[in-house]
Amino acid sequence: MTVERQTEDLPWHLKGNWAPVQDELNVDDLQVEGEIPKDLNGLYLRNGMNPRTGWSEHWFFGNGMVHGVELKDGKASYRNRFVRTPYYENDMQMMEAFGDPKASPANTHVVSHAGRILVVEEAHVPWEIDRDLNTVGVRDWDGRLTTPFTAHPRVCHETGELLAFGYSMMAEPYLHYYRVDAKGELVQNEPIEIPRPVMMHDWNVTRNHVIFMDLPLVFSLEGPNPGFAWRPECGARLGVMPRDGTNADVKWYEMNPCYVFHPFNAHEEGDKIILHVCRQPFAMMGGMQDIGGSEDNTARLWRWTIDTKTGSVTEEQLDDAPGDFARVDDRRTGLPARYGYMMGIDNKAPTLTFDSKLYKYDFQSGGRATQDLGEGWFGGEPCFAPRAADSAEDDGWVVSIVYDGNENESYLVIVNARDFEAAPVAKVRLPRRVPFGAHGSWLPA
Ligand SMILES: [Fe+2]
Repeated sequence: MTVERQTEDLPWHLKGNWAPVQDELNVDDLQVEGEIPKDLNGLYLRNGMNPRTGWSEHWFFGNGMVHGVELKDGKASYRNRFVRTPYYENDMQMMEAFGDPKASPANTHVVSHAGRILVVEEAHVPWEIDRDLNTVGVRDWDGRLTTPFTAHPRVCHETGELLAFGYSMMAEPYLHYYRVDAKGELVQNEPIEIPRPVMMHDWNVTRNHVIFMDLPLVFSLEGPNPGFAWRPECGARLGVMPRDGTNADVKWYEMNPCYVFHPFNAHEEGDKIILHVCRQPFAMMGGMQDIGGSEDNTARLWRWTIDTKTGSVTEEQLDDAPGDFARVDDRRTGLPARYGYMMGIDNKAPTLTFDSKLYKYDFQSGGRATQDLGEGWFGGEPCFAPRAADSAEDDGWVVSIVYDGNENESYLVIVNARDFEAAPVAKVRLPRRVPFGAHGSWLPA
């Protein structure tokens, strides 16, 4: 192993391949093992926490750095940039930034909508970057968005809308719903009542509804450990609302306490709503920091079925592979998706540790295929890139920025989605180590 030497007293999220990088590069003509498909043209963007000072108190608090790999005619280039918000410019820590909706670390996800690329983090408003990854400015709809905006907005490929929510920790209402139309205009901003502030990291949309997850990772400033605490006695509920609805239209469905950082997708079947999620039985304070801390709280694939007639939620575990960072073909958002992709997590590790596996689920047959990157390799979030805009679901490739811990190098791997267990069709060697991060998107050329 030639991984960098580490200072023993650094927290896990600053060591090994979590350690931040500081330089901003543009490099063309990357080395490729295998062959980049000629019809895979576009830009893969991936965001992650990368503290500019080298230090952050929590994984969630590092500065956003976006890494981009552009594929064109079988060739690849790389670039990366910090997102230059007031959080970056003023070297802020999270406690200083809570009161300013624009002071975003902008570190969690990067999504494309209505001709803009938005970088998002759940305690602040979005920021916009361009295709060169330079920061354009805040995207708060001319100051009309003053409350936090999720890191997991969803684009509906039928209507072109961007659907989103935001949760607040300090003041009621603790939840808002947002709808942005296909032209990028904020057309709806609804306060939604929930009884207490909870960490609502992600959510679900279907063709006609959105589904909020009110799960008992509860925020409080009281007691010896202010912050988020696991409080199963508060119960767990799914809130189903029509996409153009208001607080009065939300119907809540009780379920067993659990935590979900990331669903795969949701869809409707008559009176039923089907959700595939990465469910963990509980979440500790600090959230995902502890996701790998115990075999018992690593997420697995579950299916929830809401029966809107009877008011029941059926909960079923479908597989035992530990993992998270679930995705489907983005074009299937809210529609029945047959295939889901998930990153493996090492449930024996004391802190959040990706493993060498990427998974592909077939929700129809119940099958699971595994892409094993090999000994000493660590995966990243899998993202589906279709062959063409109108190609069938799963006709394309799964891309992911992964880490070779044997050589301390990072690669973009390109896996044929329909031959998922075969060796990647290409491994694009990135010109520098890319720290483990969070979420990304494929932007077709
Ligand atoms: Fe996330």
